[in-house]
Amino acid sequence: MAQEQSGARSGAQSESEQFVSFGEQGAQLTYGSYLSLPTLLDSQHLESDPPAHDELLFITIHQVYELWFKQLLHEAAAARNAMSHGELWWAQHLLQRMHVIERVLVHQVDVLETMTPQDFLEFRQRLAPASGFQSVQFRELEFLSGAKDPAYVQRFKGLTEAEQARLRQRLEEPTLWDAFLDVLRTRGLPAGSDDEIRESLRTAAHDRSQYADIWAVSEALLQHDELAANWRARHVTMVERMIGSKSGTGGSSGSTYLRGRLPLRYYPLLWGLRSEL
Ligand code: HEM
Repeated sequence: MAQEQSGARSGAQSESEQFVSFGEQGAQLTYGSYLSLPTLLDSQHLESDPPAHDELLFITIHQVYELWFKQLLHEAAAARNAMSHGELWWAQHLLQRMHVIERVLVHQVDVLETMTPQDFLEFRQRLAPASGFQSVQFRELEFLSGAKDPAYVQRFKGLTEAEQARLRQRLEEPTLWDAFLDVLRTRGLPAGSDDEIRESLRTAAHDRSQYADIWAVSEALLQHDELAANWRARHVTMVERMIGSKSGTGGSSGSTYLRGRLPLRYYPLLWGLRSEL
């Protein structure tokens, strides 16, 4: 009994010692300073006055998206570079991480959908002309994935110099698809014209023992494409539930514009392959 008590006491002592010393050695870095929490948590500024209850949710969810977009750009650029250096295992690993993040992006629309159209209307008119349409990182992701469209750079209004430079850079640099075509070529599979690419894709698909890594990366690219399509579909359904057929704060026709983007595919030749097998 005495032993048990002393054991319990020494356990409590070591716990309190740990508590005192944990995270305080040197007192240099803290959780808050490492994560820049004072700045991060002071970055939600409501436009509505008096404050509309749901505007904080609206701002937070967009900020969370932008953080994930930043991470996706980081992973996509590294996956492209890995393909260019012939490190297919690493490219595949990074693409798989992107898929997990992209599923989160699709599912997190559910959170915003807990907002009713009436509650959104409390602050919606304050948002124009701001719109997700102006998300530079979203467009960078499209360009880096393979869907380059310079018209978007012209259509953007109010971009900073730095944002314009980032988009121009993405228009110039190789895409994930360019890097994949390099992979085909270095493995002796022609990739000059669309017909050559189609033929090479068929070859890799029919000889998976020889081209297992190429097949795996091409499927990972297709998955990335499919998840982007899923996000567009999920977003437009939510938009219709929220604003019906009203035009967007960014000045577009709203859901008509968004539905027009649903057929977009980054890698049409990978989709076309299915019909040719
Ligand atoms: C109440 C919620 C939302 C509504 C009603 C809404 C509505 C719209 C509309 C109408 C557009 C078309 C452009 C325009 O005229 O504004 C658009 C585009 C867009 N929105 Fe949203 N949105 C919402 C939430 C979000 C969220 C949470 C994100 C996450 C980042 C987002 C990202 C985008 C993007 C990236 C575009 C451009 C899509 C493209 O060009 O294909 N939206 N949104």
